[in-house]
Amino acid sequence: EEFGDLVGALPRKQQDGLELRLYQGFWLPEYWVAGTVVFQRRFSPRRDDVILASYPKCGTTWLKALAFATMTRDAYPEPAQHPLLRLNPHDCIPFLDEIFADGQEAKLENLPSPRLMNTHLPYTLLPESVTGADVAGCKVAYICRDPKDMVVSLWHFLQRRQPGLSFVELFEHVCDGDVLVGPTWDHVLSYWHASLARPDRVLFLRYEDLLQDTSKHVRRLAQFMGRPFSAAEVSAGAVEGIVELCSFEKMKGLEVNKKGSSGAYPRDAFFRKGVAGDWVNHMTQDMAARLDEIVREKFRGTGLEAL
Ligand code: A3P
Repeated sequence: EEFGDLVGALPRKQQDGLELRLYQGFWLPEYWVAGTVVFQRRFSPRRDDVILASYPKCGTTWLKALAFATMTRDAYPEPAQHPLLRLNPHDCIPFLDEIFADGQEAKLENLPSPRLMNTHLPYTLLPESVTGADVAGCKVAYICRDPKDMVVSLWHFLQRRQPGLSFVELFEHVCDGDVLVGPTWDHVLSYWHASLARPDRVLFLRYEDLLQDTSKHVRRLAQFMGRPFSAAEVSAGAVEGIVELCSFEKMKGLEVNKKGSSGAYPRDAFFRKGVAGDWVNHMTQDMAARLDEIVREKFRGTGLEAL
């Protein structure tokens, strides 16, 4: 309520079944905006916080599972006992954007350290208490994905609440940038630039790289989060145990992930195909070439040539 005037003054679009507002260059769901302002002004990070950041449908659930399993591995040396077998990853790690939208930030204070949290906000919208040059600690691990697969995944996901949603219209909105937390490329670039400037504080991951060699990137993530795997752990199979625990097949098959909901979506909506390249089944070669060209153009000269 405090921010009603601010929200009311922002450009607005109603599309893809979402009410969006343009806030600081990004199309946020309307109900996140006031919470984002509170997050920006009042979030108080701890030195050992890790924020998992992502563009929606780019591997958030997987990253949450891998990070959670990595951070809690001492408490659950037997993967068969791990809470991820009973709990959906979204129920293990709080989603900051909704926590603040719902005025539930007090919950964050009660979390034991080190805290793991996640956000879909771009780096430029994160609080200065996280991104400021003189901030000690509080790391951010980001995951992105080929935008062609992201659109396909987003379409399937949004359809769970908006049956009949047009794929072509959603695709056009992605290309135009006026899509959920878009423009997509600005989101990706915000983290890419931050990871180049502050590699100790911002880790940049790609869904496709994780698919190709999950163990390698779990070790990178662990190192980044300040919980590297020891040689003894590696030889005892700790990394492989986590990879297996968090694999798509394993997670999709768990009873907990087949029923109920996490946030506004049914839990099974977060586990669809889990592959790279499914875009070939949904878009024409022309559409793919157009999106690739937009991405190439936006990334030109940034060192991030393709996703
Ligand atoms: P698809 O719709 O292409 O299958 P997010 O978690 O950011 O919402 O992203 C969801 C996408 O990640 C979905 O992609 C989903 O299937 C995939 N995914 C979820 N869990 C995964 C896992 N453990 N391993 C690989 N991919 C996973």
